[in-house]
Parts: sequence; structure tokens; C-alpha cells
Amino acid sequence: MRVLVTGGAGFIGSHTCVELLNHGYEAIVVDNLCNAKPDVMDRIEKICGKRPTFYCQDVCDREAMREIFAKEKPDAVIHFAGLKAVGESCSIPLRYYRNNLDSTLSLLECMQEFGCKKIVFSSSATVYGPYNPSPYVESMPVNTATNPYGWTKVFIEQILRDFAAADSELSVVNLRYFNPIGAHESGLLGDDPDGIPNNLMPYIVRVAAGQLEKLTIFGDDYDTPDGSCIRDYLHVVDLAKGHLKALEYASKHCGVEAVNLGTGRGQSVFELVEAFEKASGVKVNRIVGGRREGDLPAIWADTSKAEALLGWTADKTVEEMCADSWNFVNHK
Ligand code: NAD
Ligand code: UD1
Repeated sequence: MRVLVTGGAGFIGSHTCVELLNHGYEAIVVDNLCNAKPDVMDRIEKICGKRPTFYCQDVCDREAMREIFAKEKPDAVIHFAGLKAVGESCSIPLRYYRNNLDSTLSLLECMQEFGCKKIVFSSSATVYGPYNPSPYVESMPVNTATNPYGWTKVFIEQILRDFAAADSELSVVNLRYFNPIGAHESGLLGDDPDGIPNNLMPYIVRVAAGQLEKLTIFGDDYDTPDGSCIRDYLHVVDLAKGHLKALEYASKHCGVEAVNLGTGRGQSVFELVEAFEKASGVKVNRIVGGRREGDLPAIWADTSKAEALLGWTADKTVEEMCADSWNFVNHK
């Protein structure tokens, strides 16, 4: 099967390309490298002995995407391309709406024109918004986000539902990721944000590596057992494998499904820092600061649908997630 992977040079996309190539799929990556390094395809080749076909191209550019579809004739699409920094989306919302929505629309128009009927989309637990209690279940309402990034995910899920409603041969899987961390065990692929990281694990590893002075834990006065926020952290390789399961499902069924990809277990910020220290043997200098605006106290997934529908569960432990994140920073 020929799979077009938008955003395939990024953190989750690159790990998914490895799984695709290792399982006999052909991967065609379209990425404009706005948040990825040019050597990612070389690294994928080092791991798999094969490399994806690569186009350095903006997915918003519909004419360029038409040419790629005409040449590559993909059987399915995995759509990772998008901007993803929550804080930045509040300061430059139009750029987020333009990039995330236009890329999706040009992609769907090409799928329609070239008869490509299967799409797996990178949605997020953020679509559950501030009012649903954890564990999040796919049947809960997903019509409220707390920031422009989150709204792009809510809107794109809706666009995909409408797209599928108008074509009974289409198959759409909206994968709602929880908090992916970790890295490929080779140390060749991982999460490597430019500048100061926003997310917890990249911040922890940079403090441990001596590149940042200290971690600020955003609040210890939440109504949780140790007062810090709880999230459902999952290993990026488990997450990547979930995409293959979603593709298999999409090959056999038409219609739209939303599926949570998480472990079903919550970890607090304190617990994750301690697990990292244990796995790496390095102390993480930290202080407790105030709450970060927009953070919700506790988020974790109900994973029963992923298991029942896709036959997927997350296998890797928090210790493996921490060890692999640390291994990646030491290989860079
Ligand atoms: P990432 O930034 O590492 O990867 C996204 C890739 O898309 C980057 O390589 C970037 O260069 C590319 N890109 C962005 N806009 C593009 C465009 N218009 N044309 C071509 N390429 C473009 O992010 P990631 O962590 O790998 O996330 C992948 C997807 O999963 C995103 O849609 C993100 O919103 C979603 N997601 C991520 C998380 C997370 O915690 N990492 C959680 C939930 C959902
Ligand atoms: C956020 C977004 C989510 C997005 C994800 C990946 C929200 C509500 N969620 O998830 O939509 O998909 O990023 O981009 O915005 N923390 C600290 N110190 C730090 C950094 C984080 O204590 O320096 C804490 C946070 O308060 C949070 C936890 O660590 O409790 C995880 O934070 P983070 O990694 O940023 O992910 P989320 O906020 O869960």
C-alpha cells in the first residue's frame, strides 16, 4: 500500500514512517520542514535500510499537491502536517487557522480528485475541551476548545465527518492522541523542538543535559493526589504503531471513527520527573511555580475503543519512555 504522509519529517510522523517501511508499506512524505530537520529522511533510512520518497512542499499548495497525487497515486493518507504549539496559537491564531485548515482542505480536494478514499488524521485529546471529565470517552461531546490550536482540531474533525458523509466509500479515522513522549530506541529520532520547549518531557531532558537551568512545575495545588497535573503519557513508537492499526481498519471499513490513543493511565508531573530521574540516573533541578493558564488538572484516556476496534494497546512503560527520551538527547 502506498501511503502519503503529510508532516512525515516531524516527531510522530518520522516514527510512523519507520513503522510503515518496516511493515512493507511505501511511504511518500510531504513536509515543508517548518518544524523538522532536513536529515530526518537519512535517519529513517539508517533505521530501516529504506527511505521514504520525500517532497519538501507546503501541503497548503494545492497545485503542488495535485502533481504529487498524480505522480504517486497514494492509496491512503496519514495527515500529521500542522502547527501544534498551544501558546503560539493564541498569539498568531490566523497563521494556525490558515496552515492547519488550508493544508487539510487542499489534501482532501486532492483525495477527492484522485479517488483516494482512506485518511487517518492526527487529532488530539484537546478536542474534549474543558468540560468533559476523565477518562475521556470517544462518545463525549467534542465541540469546545480552549485555544486556536485546539479549535483547528475540532474544526478539522468536523470537516472530515462532513467529507465522509458525502461519500459512502470514504474511510476516516480521527486519532485523538494523548501525550506522546519517548523516542526511537536507536536514538536517531525524537522530539527536538527549536528554542525553549513548551512541553514537559523535552524540557526535562534539556534540564538534565545541563542546557536549561531548572524545570518549573506548573502548580502543586491542583485537586490531585500530589497537587500537580495528571496526563496520559504514551511512547511515540506505540503511537506510531497505532497508525498502522488505523490504516488496516480503514482498509476494511468505510465511514468515520474517532479513537483515543493513550495508555489509559495518568501520571502526575512529579511522578514523571521522578521516573525520569530513575531511568536516567540524573537529577532534574526543579522548582514549583504557579499554574500555567489553560492547563486542566487531570487528563487520561479510556482506551477500550482502541483495543476493541483496532486491536491496539500501548505496551511501553513510563521507564522506557524516559530512558528513550534521554538516549535521544545524548545521541543528537
Ligand atoms: P511536529 O511539528 O514534529 O510535526 C509536524 C510536521 O508537519 C513538521 O515536520 C512540520 O514541518 C510539518 N508541517 C507543518 N505545517 C506544514 C505544511 N503546511 N505543509 C507541510 N508540512 C507542514 O509535530 P508532531 O508532534 O509530530 O505532531 C504531528 C501531528 O500530531 C500534528 O498535527 C499535531 O497537532 C498532532 N498532535 C501532536 C501531539 C503532541 O503532543 N506531539 C498531540 C496531539 C496531536
Ligand atoms: C499540550 C496541549 C495539547 C497538545 C500538547 C502537545 C493544552 C491543554 N494541551 O498538552 O493540546 O496536543 O501540548 O503539543 O494546551 N508542565 C510543567 N512544566 C513545564 C511544562 C509542562 O509543569 O515546563 C506540565 C503542564 O502543566 C502539564 C504537563 O506538564 O500538566 C504536560 O504539559 P505539556 O507537555 O505541555 O502537555 P499538555 O499541556 O498536556
